[in-house]
Amino acid sequence: MFDFTSVDLLDAFTRELRLCKLRDGEHVVVLSEPGSRGDYVAAAFGAAKSLGAHVISATVPGGSPAPMPSTHTGAGPGLVSVLNDRTAQDLLKSADLVVDLTREGFIHAPVQQEILAAGTRIIFVCDAPDVLIRNLPDAGDKVRVLDGVSLLRTGSVMRVTSAAGTDLTVQLTDSHPEFQCGFADDPGRWDHWPSTMVLCWPEISDGQIVLAEGDILLPFKEYVRTPVTLEVSGGHIDKVSGGAEAEILNTFFDDSQDQWARSLSHMGWGLMRTADWFATAMYGKDDLMGMDARAFAGNFLWSTGPHPHLQRESYAHLDIAMRGCTVGVDGVEVVTGGRLAQG
Ligand SMILES: [Fe+2]
Repeated sequence: MFDFTSVDLLDAFTRELRLCKLRDGEHVVVLSEPGSRGDYVAAAFGAAKSLGAHVISATVPGGSPAPMPSTHTGAGPGLVSVLNDRTAQDLLKSADLVVDLTREGFIHAPVQQEILAAGTRIIFVCDAPDVLIRNLPDAGDKVRVLDGVSLLRTGSVMRVTSAAGTDLTVQLTDSHPEFQCGFADDPGRWDHWPSTMVLCWPEISDGQIVLAEGDILLPFKEYVRTPVTLEVSGGHIDKVSGGAEAEILNTFFDDSQDQWARSLSHMGWGLMRTADWFATAMYGKDDLMGMDARAFAGNFLWSTGPHPHLQRESYAHLDIAMRGCTVGVDGVEVVTGGRLAQG
Protein backbone atom coordinates (compact mmCIF):
# COMPACT_ATOMS: atom_id res chain seq x y z
CA MET A 1 0.00 0.00 0.00
CA PHE A 2 1.31 3.41 -0.94
CA ASP A 3 1.37 5.57 2.20
CA PHE A 4 3.13 8.60 3.65
CA THR A 5 6.23 6.60 4.62
CA SER A 6 6.47 5.38 1.04
CA VAL A 7 6.51 8.99 -0.15
CA ASP A 8 9.49 9.73 2.11
CA LEU A 9 11.32 6.59 1.00
CA LEU A 10 10.69 7.24 -2.68
CA ASP A 11 12.07 10.76 -2.29
CA ALA A 12 15.14 9.54 -0.37
CA PHE A 13 15.90 6.72 -2.82
CA THR A 14 15.48 9.12 -5.75
CA ARG A 15 17.99 11.54 -4.22
CA GLU A 16 20.33 8.65 -3.44
CA LEU A 17 20.19 7.27 -6.99
CA ARG A 18 20.87 10.75 -8.36
CA LEU A 19 24.02 10.83 -6.20
CA CYS A 20 24.89 7.45 -7.75
CA LYS A 21 24.68 9.34 -11.06
CA LEU A 22 21.94 7.10 -12.38
CA ARG A 23 21.24 8.23 -15.91
CA ASP A 24 18.36 7.87 -18.30
CA GLY A 25 18.58 4.54 -20.13
CA GLU A 26 20.91 2.82 -17.66
CA HIS A 27 20.09 -0.62 -16.33
CA VAL A 28 19.32 -1.08 -12.64
CA VAL A 29 18.87 -4.36 -10.77
CA VAL A 30 17.22 -4.13 -7.36
CA LEU A 31 18.53 -7.21 -5.55
CA SER A 32 16.57 -8.58 -2.61
CA GLU A 33 15.89 -11.74 -0.63
CA PRO A 34 12.63 -12.77 1.04
CA GLY A 35 13.72 -11.10 4.30
CA SER A 36 14.48 -7.75 2.65
CA ARG A 37 12.21 -4.79 3.33
CA GLY A 38 9.49 -4.74 0.67
CA ASP A 39 9.09 -0.97 1.00
CA TYR A 40 12.79 -0.51 0.11
CA VAL A 41 12.41 -2.72 -2.96
CA ALA A 42 9.42 -0.68 -4.09
CA ALA A 43 11.13 2.65 -3.35
CA ALA A 44 14.34 1.68 -5.20
CA PHE A 45 12.32 0.33 -8.12
CA GLY A 46 10.18 3.48 -8.30
CA ALA A 47 13.15 5.81 -7.95
CA ALA A 48 15.10 4.05 -10.72
CA LYS A 49 12.05 4.11 -12.99
CA SER A 50 11.35 7.78 -12.34
CA LEU A 51 14.94 8.64 -13.31
CA GLY A 52 14.43 6.96 -16.68
CA ALA A 53 16.40 3.79 -16.03
CA HIS A 54 15.50 0.26 -17.10
CA VAL A 55 14.81 -1.56 -13.85
CA ILE A 56 14.54 -5.21 -12.84
CA SER A 57 13.64 -6.37 -9.35
CA ALA A 58 15.38 -9.68 -8.64
CA THR A 59 14.48 -11.62 -5.50
CA VAL A 60 16.74 -14.58 -4.77
CA PRO A 61 16.45 -17.16 -1.97
CA GLY A 62 17.87 -16.19 1.43
CA GLY A 63 20.59 -18.19 3.16
CA SER A 64 24.10 -17.16 4.12
CA PRO A 65 27.36 -19.12 4.02
CA ALA A 66 28.38 -17.45 7.32
CA PRO A 67 27.96 -19.33 10.62
CA MET A 68 26.09 -16.48 12.30
CA PRO A 69 22.60 -14.99 12.20
CA SER A 70 21.86 -12.64 9.27
CA THR A 71 20.74 -9.81 11.53
CA HIS A 72 22.41 -6.97 9.63
CA THR A 73 25.83 -7.75 11.07
CA GLY A 74 27.91 -6.16 8.34
CA ALA A 75 29.85 -9.36 7.74
CA GLY A 76 28.88 -9.19 4.06
CA PRO A 77 29.24 -12.87 3.20
CA GLY A 78 26.68 -12.76 0.37
CA LEU A 79 23.89 -15.21 -0.31
CA VAL A 80 24.48 -18.83 -1.23
CA SER A 81 21.80 -18.49 -3.92
CA VAL A 82 23.93 -15.91 -5.76
CA LEU A 83 27.34 -17.38 -4.92
CA ASN A 84 26.22 -20.66 -6.55
CA ASP A 85 24.31 -19.26 -9.50
CA ARG A 86 26.14 -18.03 -12.57
CA THR A 87 22.90 -16.67 -14.06
CA ALA A 88 22.28 -14.44 -11.05
CA GLN A 89 25.89 -13.25 -11.17
CA ASP A 90 25.62 -12.52 -14.90
CA LEU A 91 22.47 -10.48 -14.30
CA LEU A 92 24.29 -8.37 -11.70
CA LYS A 93 27.34 -7.99 -13.94
CA SER A 94 25.16 -6.81 -16.80
CA ALA A 95 23.64 -4.00 -14.71
CA ASP A 96 25.02 -0.46 -14.58
CA LEU A 97 23.82 -0.14 -10.99
CA VAL A 98 22.80 -2.77 -8.44
CA VAL A 99 20.77 -1.60 -5.46
CA ASP A 100 21.67 -4.33 -2.97
CA LEU A 101 18.85 -4.66 -0.44
CA THR A 102 19.90 -8.06 0.91
CA ARG A 103 20.22 -8.33 4.68
CA GLU A 104 24.01 -8.64 4.78
CA GLY A 105 25.33 -7.58 1.39
CA PHE A 106 28.30 -9.07 -0.44
CA ILE A 107 31.21 -6.89 0.65
CA HIS A 108 33.31 -9.80 1.88
CA ALA A 109 32.24 -12.24 -0.84
CA PRO A 110 34.86 -12.55 -3.62
CA VAL A 111 32.09 -12.69 -6.23
CA GLN A 112 31.36 -9.02 -5.53
CA GLN A 113 34.82 -8.13 -6.87
CA GLU A 114 33.96 -9.96 -10.12
CA ILE A 115 30.71 -8.02 -10.43
CA LEU A 116 32.49 -4.70 -9.81
CA ALA A 117 35.21 -5.65 -12.29
CA ALA A 118 32.48 -5.74 -14.94
CA GLY A 119 31.98 -2.00 -14.33
CA THR A 120 28.78 -2.40 -12.30
CA ARG A 121 28.37 -0.01 -9.42
CA ILE A 122 26.70 -1.31 -6.27
CA ILE A 123 24.96 0.62 -3.52
CA PHE A 124 24.15 -1.40 -0.40
CA VAL A 125 21.26 -0.29 1.80
CA CYS A 126 19.88 -1.89 4.95
CA ASP A 127 19.55 0.54 7.86
CA ALA A 128 16.20 1.85 9.14
CA PRO A 129 14.27 4.44 7.05
CA ASP A 130 14.90 7.47 9.26
CA VAL A 131 18.58 6.49 9.60
CA LEU A 132 18.84 6.56 5.79
CA ILE A 133 17.00 9.85 5.52
CA ARG A 134 18.89 11.59 8.36
CA ASN A 135 22.20 10.46 6.89
CA LEU A 136 21.50 11.10 3.20
CA PRO A 137 24.91 11.85 1.73
CA ASP A 138 26.00 15.07 0.17
CA ALA A 139 28.15 15.21 -2.96
CA GLY A 140 30.82 17.03 -0.92
CA ASP A 141 31.25 14.03 1.39
CA LYS A 142 33.32 12.33 -1.29
CA VAL A 143 35.77 15.22 -1.37
CA ARG A 144 36.23 15.04 2.40
CA VAL A 145 36.92 11.31 2.47
CA LEU A 146 39.27 11.52 -0.50
CA ASP A 147 41.36 14.04 1.45
CA GLY A 148 41.71 11.42 4.20
CA VAL A 149 42.61 8.74 1.68
CA SER A 150 45.43 10.87 0.25
CA LEU A 151 46.76 11.51 3.73
CA LEU A 152 46.87 7.77 4.43
CA ARG A 153 48.33 7.02 1.01
CA THR A 154 51.28 9.33 1.49
CA GLY A 155 51.66 8.71 5.22
CA SER A 156 53.83 6.14 6.90
CA VAL A 157 52.51 5.92 10.46
CA MET A 158 49.07 6.40 12.01
CA ARG A 159 49.01 6.88 15.77
CA VAL A 160 45.88 6.53 17.86
CA THR A 161 45.76 7.68 21.48
CA SER A 162 43.05 8.30 24.05
CA ALA A 163 42.68 9.55 27.60
CA ALA A 164 41.44 6.06 28.48
CA GLY A 165 44.89 4.68 27.67
CA THR A 166 44.86 3.74 23.99
CA ASP A 167 48.25 4.10 22.34
CA LEU A 168 48.45 2.29 19.02
CA THR A 169 51.04 2.73 16.30
CA VAL A 170 49.96 1.57 12.84
CA GLN A 171 52.29 1.05 9.87
CA LEU A 172 50.65 2.50 6.77
CA THR A 173 52.93 1.17 4.06
CA ASP A 174 50.86 -0.98 1.67
CA SER A 175 47.77 -0.45 3.83
CA HIS A 176 45.42 0.04 0.85
CA PRO A 177 43.50 3.17 1.95
CA GLU A 178 39.83 3.23 1.01
CA PHE A 179 36.72 5.28 1.66
CA GLN A 180 32.97 5.06 1.89
CA CYS A 181 30.95 8.15 1.01
CA GLY A 182 27.39 6.83 0.93
CA PHE A 183 26.92 6.69 -2.84
CA ALA A 184 28.42 4.72 -5.74
CA ASP A 185 28.96 7.04 -8.67
CA ASP A 186 32.01 5.63 -10.45
CA PRO A 187 31.98 2.47 -12.60
CA GLY A 188 33.07 -0.56 -10.55
CA ARG A 189 32.45 1.22 -7.27
CA TRP A 190 30.76 -0.33 -4.20
CA ASP A 191 29.44 1.89 -1.46
CA HIS A 192 27.08 1.83 1.47
CA TRP A 193 24.22 4.22 2.24
CA PRO A 194 24.67 5.63 4.84
CA SER A 195 28.38 5.94 5.43
CA THR A 196 31.15 8.53 5.37
CA MET A 197 34.47 7.08 6.47
CA VAL A 198 38.14 6.64 5.68
CA LEU A 199 39.79 3.30 6.30
CA CYS A 200 42.86 1.26 5.54
CA TRP A 201 44.02 -2.34 5.81
CA PRO A 202 47.32 -2.29 7.70
CA GLU A 203 49.25 -5.44 8.47
CA ILE A 204 51.34 -4.29 11.44
CA SER A 205 50.13 -2.36 14.47
CA ASP A 206 51.57 -2.34 17.96
CA GLY A 207 50.57 -1.00 21.34
CA GLN A 208 47.32 -1.12 23.22
CA ILE A 209 43.71 -0.25 22.60
CA VAL A 210 41.62 0.64 25.64
CA LEU A 211 37.87 0.58 25.09
CA ALA A 212 36.12 3.11 27.30
CA GLU A 213 32.61 3.07 28.73
CA GLY A 214 30.15 3.89 25.96
CA ASP A 215 32.23 2.60 23.04
CA ILE A 216 30.27 0.29 20.74
CA LEU A 217 30.86 -3.38 19.91
CA LEU A 218 29.51 -4.49 16.53
CA PRO A 219 27.89 -6.65 15.32
CA PHE A 220 26.61 -7.18 18.86
CA LYS A 221 25.28 -3.59 18.87
CA GLU A 222 26.18 -3.27 22.56
CA TYR A 223 27.90 -0.49 24.51
CA VAL A 224 31.03 -1.13 26.54
CA ARG A 225 30.19 -0.81 30.27
CA THR A 226 33.60 -1.58 31.79
CA PRO A 227 36.94 -0.62 30.20
CA VAL A 228 38.67 -3.28 28.10
CA THR A 229 42.41 -3.36 27.41
CA LEU A 230 43.62 -5.12 24.26
CA GLU A 231 47.35 -5.64 23.95
CA VAL A 232 48.44 -5.68 20.31
CA SER A 233 51.70 -6.72 18.70
CA GLY A 234 52.42 -7.15 15.01
CA GLY A 235 48.72 -6.66 14.18
CA HIS A 236 47.65 -9.46 16.53
CA ILE A 237 45.65 -9.15 19.76
CA ASP A 238 47.76 -10.96 22.35
CA LYS A 239 45.65 -10.33 25.41
CA VAL A 240 42.22 -8.95 26.31
CA SER A 241 41.59 -7.93 29.90
CA GLY A 242 38.91 -6.04 31.81
CA GLY A 243 35.35 -6.74 32.89
CA ALA A 244 32.28 -8.25 31.26
CA GLU A 245 32.98 -7.02 27.71
CA ALA A 246 36.54 -8.35 27.85
CA GLU A 247 35.05 -11.72 28.73
CA ILE A 248 32.60 -11.47 25.82
CA LEU A 249 35.39 -10.64 23.37
CA ASN A 250 37.57 -13.49 24.59
CA THR A 251 34.65 -15.90 24.32
CA PHE A 252 33.82 -14.68 20.81
CA PHE A 253 37.41 -15.16 19.67
CA ASP A 254 37.57 -18.65 21.21
CA ASP A 255 34.17 -19.80 19.98
CA SER A 256 34.88 -18.72 16.40
CA GLN A 257 37.69 -21.29 16.13
CA ASP A 258 39.04 -18.98 13.46
CA GLN A 259 42.77 -18.51 13.01
CA TRP A 260 42.32 -14.82 12.14
CA ALA A 261 39.83 -13.94 14.90
CA ARG A 262 42.46 -12.09 16.95
CA SER A 263 44.09 -10.38 13.95
CA LEU A 264 43.35 -6.75 13.22
CA SER A 265 41.51 -5.96 10.01
CA HIS A 266 40.47 -2.55 8.64
CA MET A 267 40.76 0.63 10.69
CA GLY A 268 40.07 4.31 10.17
CA TRP A 269 37.85 7.16 11.24
CA GLY A 270 34.29 8.34 10.63
CA LEU A 271 33.23 11.63 9.01
CA MET A 272 29.43 11.33 9.05
CA ARG A 273 28.34 14.47 10.87
CA THR A 274 24.67 13.50 10.91
CA ALA A 275 25.36 10.21 12.70
CA ASP A 276 23.73 9.58 16.07
CA TRP A 277 25.76 7.63 18.66
CA PHE A 278 22.55 6.64 20.43
CA ALA A 279 20.89 5.04 17.39
CA THR A 280 22.42 1.77 18.61
CA ALA A 281 20.44 2.11 21.84
CA MET A 282 17.19 3.30 20.29
CA TYR A 283 16.48 0.74 17.57
CA GLY A 284 15.90 -2.98 17.55
CA LYS A 285 18.97 -4.98 16.57
CA ASP A 286 17.29 -6.22 13.43
CA ASP A 287 16.45 -2.69 12.29
CA LEU A 288 20.02 -1.50 11.99
CA MET A 289 23.42 -2.50 10.71
CA GLY A 290 24.85 0.24 12.88
CA MET A 291 26.28 2.74 10.40
CA ASP A 292 25.61 5.59 12.86
CA ALA A 293 28.24 4.00 15.12
CA ARG A 294 30.61 2.89 12.36
CA ALA A 295 30.75 6.21 10.50
CA PHE A 296 30.19 8.64 13.42
CA ALA A 297 32.19 11.82 12.79
CA GLY A 298 35.39 11.71 14.83
CA ASN A 299 35.21 8.07 15.87
CA PHE A 300 38.06 5.59 15.58
CA LEU A 301 36.74 2.41 13.94
CA TRP A 302 38.81 -0.74 13.97
CA SER A 303 38.03 -4.34 13.31
CA THR A 304 39.16 -7.94 13.51
CA GLY A 305 39.15 -10.97 11.24
CA PRO A 306 39.09 -10.84 7.43
CA HIS A 307 41.89 -9.11 5.53
CA PRO A 308 41.48 -9.40 1.76
CA HIS A 309 44.91 -7.92 1.03
CA LEU A 310 46.60 -10.59 3.15
CA GLN A 311 44.32 -13.35 1.82
CA ARG A 312 42.78 -13.89 5.25
CA GLU A 313 39.28 -15.24 4.78
CA SER A 314 37.33 -15.11 8.01
CA TYR A 315 33.75 -14.78 9.19
CA ALA A 316 34.93 -13.67 12.66
CA HIS A 317 34.50 -9.97 11.94
CA LEU A 318 34.07 -7.43 14.72
CA ASP A 319 33.83 -3.68 14.14
CA ILE A 320 34.52 -1.60 17.23
CA ALA A 321 33.66 2.10 17.28
CA MET A 322 35.41 4.33 19.82
CA ARG A 323 34.81 7.90 20.94
CA GLY A 324 37.38 10.24 22.44
CA CYS A 325 40.43 9.14 20.45
CA THR A 326 43.07 11.29 18.80
CA VAL A 327 44.12 10.01 15.39
CA GLY A 328 47.20 11.38 13.67
CA VAL A 329 48.93 10.53 10.40
CA ASP A 330 52.64 11.36 10.49
CA GLY A 331 51.87 13.89 13.22
CA VAL A 332 48.93 15.53 11.43
CA GLU A 333 45.82 15.14 13.59
CA VAL A 334 42.65 14.24 11.70
CA VAL A 335 40.69 13.52 14.86
CA THR A 336 41.42 15.29 18.15
CA GLY A 337 39.83 13.93 21.30
CA GLY A 338 37.01 12.35 19.30
CA ARG A 339 36.30 15.39 17.13
CA LEU A 340 37.17 15.88 13.49
CA ALA A 341 40.12 18.23 13.20
CA GLN A 342 38.37 19.99 10.32
CA GLY A 343 35.04 20.39 12.11
FE1 LIG B 1 34.02 -4.05 9.09
